Amino acid sequence: MKICCLGAGYVGGPTMAMIAYKCPDITVTVADINEARINAWNSDELPVFEPGLDEVVHAARGRNLFFTTDKVTAIKEADIIFVSVGTPTKTYGAGAGKAADLKYIELCARDIAQYSDRSKIVVEKSTLPVRTAQGLKTVLEANSTPGLDFQVLSNPEFLAEGTAIEDLSKPDRVLIGGDEDSEAGRKAIQTLVDVYANWVDRDRIITTNLWSSELSKLVANAFLAQRISSINSISALCERTGANVDQVAYAIGTDSRIGPKFLKASVGFGGSCFQKDILNLVYLCEYFGLPDVAAYWEQVIVMNDWQKSRFSQKIVSTLFNTVNGKRIAMLGFAFKKDTNDTRETAAMYVGRDLLDEQAVLAIHDPKVSPEQMFKDLKESRTDADGNPNKQIDVCEDPYAAAKGAHGLAIMTEWDSFKDLDFQKIYDGMYKPAFVFDGRNILDHEKLRKIGFEVFAIGR
Ligand code: NAD
Ligand code: UGA
Repeated sequence: MKICCLGAGYVGGPTMAMIAYKCPDITVTVADINEARINAWNSDELPVFEPGLDEVVHAARGRNLFFTTDKVTAIKEADIIFVSVGTPTKTYGAGAGKAADLKYIELCARDIAQYSDRSKIVVEKSTLPVRTAQGLKTVLEANSTPGLDFQVLSNPEFLAEGTAIEDLSKPDRVLIGGDEDSEAGRKAIQTLVDVYANWVDRDRIITTNLWSSELSKLVANAFLAQRISSINSISALCERTGANVDQVAYAIGTDSRIGPKFLKASVGFGGSCFQKDILNLVYLCEYFGLPDVAAYWEQVIVMNDWQKSRFSQKIVSTLFNTVNGKRIAMLGFAFKKDTNDTRETAAMYVGRDLLDEQAVLAIHDPKVSPEQMFKDLKESRTDADGNPNKQIDVCEDPYAAAKGAHGLAIMTEWDSFKDLDFQKIYDGMYKPAFVFDGRNILDHEKLRKIGFEVFAIGR
């Protein structure tokens, strides 16, 4: 069997590497139009940082895992074609700011139709609005050789960045949606079930109709993000009342009906998908004439935006209402630990707020490149005269970032930040020295003993 995947991003790369790793008899080819990305997948410096990914790629690459820019051959040879391209929020026209932009998906469908000379299974791996499969099938059928059959399946991905390899090797479930009403549809579903059954227990592989599968992905992300916004809303109430949000989260999370996960209050959730997928859900609800349902889910985003700006305002108000010219150390820039991904990271929004207030940002992140930070902050590395941008100092070392700072903000929960020598950091900072722990990962009592003024979320 031959599998091809269009899109070698955070999802296409690791998921296909896992399939190839677990199924030595299947040839897996990942094709992307981005040549630099493909070159990186073929090098020692993979384009995605994920614990354990290097080992999986090295075991399978060249054996039955291939990365290429030749999508034509990849499509022609494949029995199953996964589509794992981006589905960002639309920035133009109808639905701008909410609906998913499906142009990359449609381009893939047109390529598949054009280059296929036999029937294929086409799998939606990207996160898509419910009922996209219908449009996909129409485009495939209208543009291909008559007589070919394209079975469209929905197989959304639930991996989280930073734990992708663990999530892929031991998934809570695999979801496969297809046309349950036809013989060909049921056969296609079974073909994909058989691929996953190479390493996933059969009772963890859920099969549904297409629309349930497409919608379940959006709903899963909405429920997860909703928990974070819920606990973050309570964090503000904790700060006013003397309750401690981590204690509240623990107390409610021990109720087995609520459960302990995804109740960690923070500076706000980031990542490429939660916001985009909820906005997409909101758009769909509006489109299908359900404005009250749309308004309900939109609050998850409103609360998250508020949490991020509340954090930057807290920094400014605590530093005597001015950060003009003051150095603020930001530890962490990625949207969560163990990833180099900065898409929608809270650090970007807090950073931009502080730059608007004329602060000097000293940023340290173990995995994010300076180029990415400047891009996210919408700043150039040099001023008009070619001198280095004085507002942003990217530091390889957290101690260098904190030296001469008035405040230190924890933006990402990297484990290494917990073990820093905070006495050394304190000695190098202006006094009073403030810590803003946006992730509640530090030992605040210890910090206060050293002399820090500490602000934590929800305490
Ligand atoms: P990404 O931007 O990292 O990767 C998408 C890739 O598709 C890019 O490399 C791009 O060059 C390529 N591409 C675009 N058009 C192409 C074409 N016509 N042919 C071949 N390649 C093409 O995106 P991602 O983070 O991997 O997300 C992909 C999808 O998976 C999205 O729908 C996203 O919502 C979903 N998803 C992402 C995650 C995650 O953790 N990032 C998790 C679950 C689901
Ligand atoms: C999330 C989901 O967890 C995945 O199941 C899903 O496949 C993926 O989105 C997707 O569709 O893209 P991801 O965004 O990679 O995965 O990472 P999460 O662990 O969900 O974290 C998202 C954000 O929420 C991060 O900024 C994280 O720091 C924050 N978060 C998470 C909290 O603030 N508190 C928590 O309790 C959990």
